[in-house]
Amino acid sequence: MVILAIETSCDETSVAIVKDGKQVLSNVVLSQIDIHADFGGVVPEVASRHHIENITIVIEQALKKADLTLADIDAIAATYGPGLIGSLLIGLQAAKTLSLVLNKPLIPIHHIAGHIYASNIDNEMKFPLISLVVSGGHTDIVYMKEHYSFEKIGGTLDDAVGEAYDKVARVLDLGYPGGPKIDKLAKEGAINYKLPTPKDDDSYDFSFSGLKSAVINLVHKEKQNKRDINKADLAFAFQEVAVNILVKKTIKAALEKKVKQIVLSGGVAANSRLREELIKKANVQKIEVLVPKFEYCTDNAAMIGAAANFSNLKLENEFTLNAKASERLYK
Ligand code: KG4
Ligand code: ZN
Repeated sequence: MVILAIETSCDETSVAIVKDGKQVLSNVVLSQIDIHADFGGVVPEVASRHHIENITIVIEQALKKADLTLADIDAIAATYGPGLIGSLLIGLQAAKTLSLVLNKPLIPIHHIAGHIYASNIDNEMKFPLISLVVSGGHTDIVYMKEHYSFEKIGGTLDDAVGEAYDKVARVLDLGYPGGPKIDKLAKEGAINYKLPTPKDDDSYDFSFSGLKSAVINLVHKEKQNKRDINKADLAFAFQEVAVNILVKKTIKAALEKKVKQIVLSGGVAANSRLREELIKKANVQKIEVLVPKFEYCTDNAAMIGAAANFSNLKLENEFTLNAKASERLYK
């Protein structure tokens, strides 16, 4: 099955052509990062306007790169939620239109299902598995006993870890998006600052707002005392605390559920320290870790096409499906 997949949940306009959920024939990602960087974060209105301008161009590019025409497409997939409502609407409307005009099924995909299935593109997911989903909007531990079955066993009670990365980067004047900047800078840092480990308990839940506030307070205090901040050391300290708690709870969940694999998913899966630590600790327990290629970690349509291949929900003549800003994946 050849699927044309569309992802526009935030600030990336992306279209991919994916065969049988595995073979990525094209994956075009038009990022708006440079546009939003001036504002220090994504401006929803600006994002949806750019999606409108770009969506047809990106669809054409994806087809051209795959050397296909619309006649070769068997189904259309699109992210319907969660995300920025104005952004989601553009991609979903384009998908509904193509589905009606071509008379091909429409497969609505939850954004997080997409992130998880990014790991099934170049690897084979084996069940049961635990996925650690870490992005700008999510920090969840998800248990999958089979394809397309998602059970959330824990998650953040406040900020997502990517959100904490972005806010810490902002307070350190590192620019947007902050995750990759902190990742890079922390490599030059050392143990110098001590930060509290949040929610270090037996649950599978997380809390990152206290850690974020601890960094902000520390920066303000040092400024008041006219002392310089060592940004690399502070980036290092923040990252160590965040990564350690994520890895600790993921390994615990994997052992309890006796899984075959741990699947790292979402934008923060691009983090070098998180990858390294998770693989190291899972190795000790002889659990295999799947990590998507960098281009499939942050938002992209290839992951949506990969997930769509395993969804049983194929809609015909669909006029009523709406985009959803907040939507649960898990039962
Ligand atoms: O999955 P994604 O592209 O969008 C959402 O669904 O939210 O994730 C974006 C998030 C941002 O918070 C960004 O700072 C973070 O992923 N991120 C990283 C890295 N690359 C992206 N965080 C830490 N280290 C990275 N290398
Ligand atoms: Zn995402």
